[in-house]
Amino acid sequence: MNHPVSPADRLRATLAGLLDGLPPKQAAGAVERLIANYRGVTPTDAPILRDRADVVAYAAYRMPATFQAVRAALAAFADAVPQGWAPESHVDVGGGTGAATWAVTDTWAGVRPVTVLDWAEPALALGREIAAAGPELREAQWRRARIGAALTIESTDLVTVSYVLNELDETARAALVDAAATAAGSVVIVEAGTPAGYARIIEARERLVAAGLRVAAPCPHSAACPIVPGTDWCHFSARVSRSSLHRQVKGGSLAYEDEKFSYVAATRLPAVPAPARVVRRPQIRKGQVLLDLCETDGRLARTTVTKRHGDLYKAARDADWGDAWPPPGSPGSRV
Ligand SMILES: C[S@@+](CC[C@H](N)C(=O)[O-])C[C@H]1O[C@@H](n2cnc3c(N)ncnc32)[C@H](O)[C@@H]1O
Repeated sequence: MNHPVSPADRLRATLAGLLDGLPPKQAAGAVERLIANYRGVTPTDAPILRDRADVVAYAAYRMPATFQAVRAALAAFADAVPQGWAPESHVDVGGGTGAATWAVTDTWAGVRPVTVLDWAEPALALGREIAAAGPELREAQWRRARIGAALTIESTDLVTVSYVLNELDETARAALVDAAATAAGSVVIVEAGTPAGYARIIEARERLVAAGLRVAAPCPHSAACPIVPGTDWCHFSARVSRSSLHRQVKGGSLAYEDEKFSYVAATRLPAVPAPARVVRRPQIRKGQVLLDLCETDGRLARTTVTKRHGDLYKAARDADWGDAWPPPGSPGSRV
């Protein structure tokens, strides 16, 4: 029997195949160079992804993780927007090899006009090649564009910006977020789940709200973030299967790793954000679950759900870091 293959499965298989024929030592060497470049000074004046070896290393080593992070952010966004909504067009800025385009097509099935903008031609070329693996992205446009004051983005339903703000100076970050807010009905921005990544997300979130968009996820509200700067950072975790390349570069035999990311999804749609969001890994104790929640009223609070709460307790045992709370369709009572 034939099982339909999801875009996520097709992407995984295609990325695994990229390294076929490349001697393992050479592949590991390209990844190590890439990691060293990313440890260097960013922003840079010229693309970090300079040639085919760089972009193959990026796609094989980082793209599965950036795909999963964007996929998780889009899932939370899709839960908040009106049921049945799907973007009719998508622009991915700083899209590189196209991780976010795959995440969008994995979230909302079907073919739509897609444009990927990036200044690194080798990344766009490989993105186009990977996109040929599936029907949804075959018509995507891969275009060279430099993010800066002169950037304009065509009008579209959805703009994604995934792991890009980190590579830009303050002026370019502001120009990009403002251009996205002007062009799009919805904007989803994802960064590494580090204190610095979170700070860039908060900066972008403030600009998006000032431009008239409302936050759909992860925050339950569009008011100021309750985290006191420097004391903590809001981030989430997405599980990524490790490829043989990962095991080779990082050692060890774990079958997966957890990609930490921060994000904001903002929209002009009549979205209904989660009533609260689980902002840490839930702690399961005997007969109780401790949930750290970001609440609609703008507070961070810890809730204890015990066996006494019946079905809600069962829901709490299943709750995961990053989930809406209470889960949609669960017994409505709050603890
Ligand atoms: C870490 S990669 C992320 C790629 C992709 N969005 C993803 O999530 O996998 C950063 C991308 O931003 C692009 N980029 C960085 N600075 C840029 C600029 N000033 N103009 C255009 N693209 C830029 C890089 O070429 C690269 O493809």
